[in-house]
Amino acid sequence: MFFIRLLLASAVTFCFTSFVLATVLVDDEIQALRDIAKTLGKTDWNFNEDPCSAQSVWVKNLDNAVNCNCSIPNTTGCHVVSIVLKAQNLPGTLPPELVNLPYLEEIDLTRNYLNGTIPPKWGSFTRLVNISLLGNRLTGSIPKELGNISTLKSLTLEFNMLSGSLPKELGNLINIERLHFTSNYFTGEIPETFAGLTTMKDFRIGENNFSGKIPDFIQNWTNLDKLVIQASGLNGPIPLHIAFLENLSDLRISDLRGPEAKFPPLQNMTKMKTLILRSCNITGQLPEYLGKMNKLTTLDLSFNKLTGGIPSSYVGLDINFMYLTGNLLSGPVPHWMLNRGSIDLSYNNFANGSLICEHQSLNLFTTSSKGSDTGNISCLRSSSCPKMLMGGLEHGPSLSKTCGNMLSGLLEDVHRPHSLLRHGLCMCSMCSGSYQAVTKESLDFLMFRLAV
Ligand SMILES: *[C@@H]1O[C@H](CO)[C@@H](O)[C@H](O)[C@H]1NC(C)=O
Ligand SMILES: *[C@@H]1O[C@H](CO)[C@@H](O)[C@H](O)[C@H]1NC(C)=O
Ligand SMILES: *[C@@H]1O[C@H](CO)[C@@H](O)[C@H](O)[C@H]1NC(C)=O
Ligand SMILES: *[C@@H]1O[C@H](CO)[C@@H](O)[C@H](O)[C@H]1NC(C)=O
Ligand SMILES: *[C@@H]1O[C@H](CO)[C@@H](O)[C@H](O)[C@H]1NC(C)=O
Ligand SMILES: *[C@@H]1O[C@H](CO)[C@@H](O)[C@H](O)[C@H]1NC(C)=O
Ligand SMILES: *[C@@H]1O[C@H](CO)[C@@H](O)[C@H](O)[C@H]1NC(C)=O
Ligand SMILES: *[C@@H]1O[C@H](CO)[C@@H](O)[C@H](O)[C@H]1NC(C)=O
Ligand SMILES: *[C@@H]1O[C@H](CO)[C@@H](O)[C@H](O)[C@H]1NC(C)=O
Ligand SMILES: *[C@@H]1O[C@H](CO)[C@@H](O)[C@H](O)[C@H]1NC(C)=O
Ligand SMILES: *[C@@H]1O[C@H](CO)[C@@H](O)[C@H](O)[C@H]1NC(C)=O
Ligand SMILES: *[C@@H]1O[C@H](CO)[C@@H](O)[C@H](O)[C@H]1NC(C)=O
Repeated sequence: MFFIRLLLASAVTFCFTSFVLATVLVDDEIQALRDIAKTLGKTDWNFNEDPCSAQSVWVKNLDNAVNCNCSIPNTTGCHVVSIVLKAQNLPGTLPPELVNLPYLEEIDLTRNYLNGTIPPKWGSFTRLVNISLLGNRLTGSIPKELGNISTLKSLTLEFNMLSGSLPKELGNLINIERLHFTSNYFTGEIPETFAGLTTMKDFRIGENNFSGKIPDFIQNWTNLDKLVIQASGLNGPIPLHIAFLENLSDLRISDLRGPEAKFPPLQNMTKMKTLILRSCNITGQLPEYLGKMNKLTTLDLSFNKLTGGIPSSYVGLDINFMYLTGNLLSGPVPHWMLNRGSIDLSYNNFANGSLICEHQSLNLFTTSSKGSDTGNISCLRSSSCPKMLMGGLEHGPSLSKTCGNMLSGLLEDVHRPHSLLRHGLCMCSMCSGSYQAVTKESLDFLMFRLAV
């Protein structure tokens, strides 16, 4: 009897011991976490609990978690593989000590108040796949050492205050699929070395101060699904061979300086869902074939020099947003346009625009070249008139003044009070000559513009 009990006890002890061993973070990494917490300003990690234990208090939710892997081949104990700390108001800086977590695959510090620079030491990560530092207050340039992280697939640095030119060494990121650099102060040209990044799927560089032309080599990124070059500083025209990127479903280019150019040949881009070519100095007529892009839900061709009428093929579009503001379009406004999603035809030369002022979803204010001659300029002062939408570099400063408070209120959310103002994107009700309460649609649209 005694013997059996002894046997049982030792079996239990054995099980317990091996269970504990299998779920304990190695000491070096515990020390690393202490250092990291200090640098980030993360005060609520509970070091009385093992970060890798089964019911870890270290995994609060998807946005606040330290995740471990306890079965990495040829290693003992557990290792931290991801740190996700989103929107925690972290006040510190980026910890160089993260490299003391050698099995780390993911760092996500999205939407905090981290300042300072990106540590060059991070170049020594050997398993890192994802870095997101979106929406912080980081300054300085991207360290060239990041080009050493050959495992990297996603580098998200949007909505910070980073500057300098992009290091040519990033062209060594042979597995990269996502580079998000939107809304920083980057300058210089896109490095030639990026030509080799053919694994790229999602490239966003808008709201920066780059120089030079949109590089031709983008045509070789045939896996590209999303390309965002809105107000990037790059010059036009849009490279014709962008037409090779038949996998693109989301193409957004705006505020291109440079010579006039015809509409790029996009007829083979049948996967397109969002097409924004806004303020790109495009001349000529609206292409008939856009009407056959049956996945297209957002079309923004505003502030170009497009002429002619609305092609009849467009009746087939199942579209949510269509912005053709600020062109030279003429002819009648087709009747079907009255009953579709948000459509803005303002600032064109349409024949009978003034008739439809009261239609909620359609903004035709000043669509008519005849202006006040038609007698319907009264729409301008009606409190129930459709909301105005304006934009483009040229229109920026004055409208920003008009809409200033509303915009800065919205922009607090993305930690970038200056970003929209900087590029003069602006939207507000112009009905009474000053802005009114922002409508839900215009908010949606603004958020959509921000692509957050
Ligand atoms: C741990 O890492 C190994 C090897 O990288 C992998 O096969 C396994 O799926 C990982 N386990 C967990 C729970 O992530
Ligand atoms: C584990 O170590 C053995 C012997 O050193 C080696 O053959 C094997 O490739 C290693 N496995 C991994 C996944 O590193
Ligand atoms: C990296 O991010 C992608 C997209 O969010 C996700 O699907 C993937 O699981 C992440 N990989 C790692 C190793 O965290
Ligand atoms: C970071 O912000 C803190 C205040 O939150 C400030 O004291 C410090 O100087 C800033 N550091 C940098 C590099 O901007
Ligand atoms: C990392 O990058 C730097 C600068 O690009 C380079 O000098 C260094 O040799 C690289 N280190 C390794 C281990 O590849
Ligand atoms: C952008 O760069 C140009 C020089 O390329 C400079 O003249 C201009 O002031 C910069 N604009 C901003 C907003 O930094
Ligand atoms: C595209 O790739 C091909 C083959 O690698 C190369 O010959 C060509 O120069 C590249 N085109 C551009 C514009 O970089
Ligand atoms: C589109 O993507 C698929 C799968 O990612 C790929 O096989 C195909 O070659 C791509 N299309 C083009 C035109 O490159
Ligand atoms: C558009 O093209 C015309 C004619 O080539 C040019 O004069 C004008 O400056 C261009 N606009 C922009 C914003 O670059
Ligand atoms: C569209 O695809 C067809 C058939 O593959 C090809 O002949 C044509 O050159 C392509 N057009 C453009 C503008 O890419
Ligand atoms: C505009 O006028 C044309 C004919 O001139 C007519 O077919 C069309 O229905 C009118 N549109 C609206 C919205 O009244
Ligand atoms: C113009 O607006 C007035 C209201 O101010 C309205 O009575 C009139 O019918 C409108 N004219 C046209 C042509 O729509």
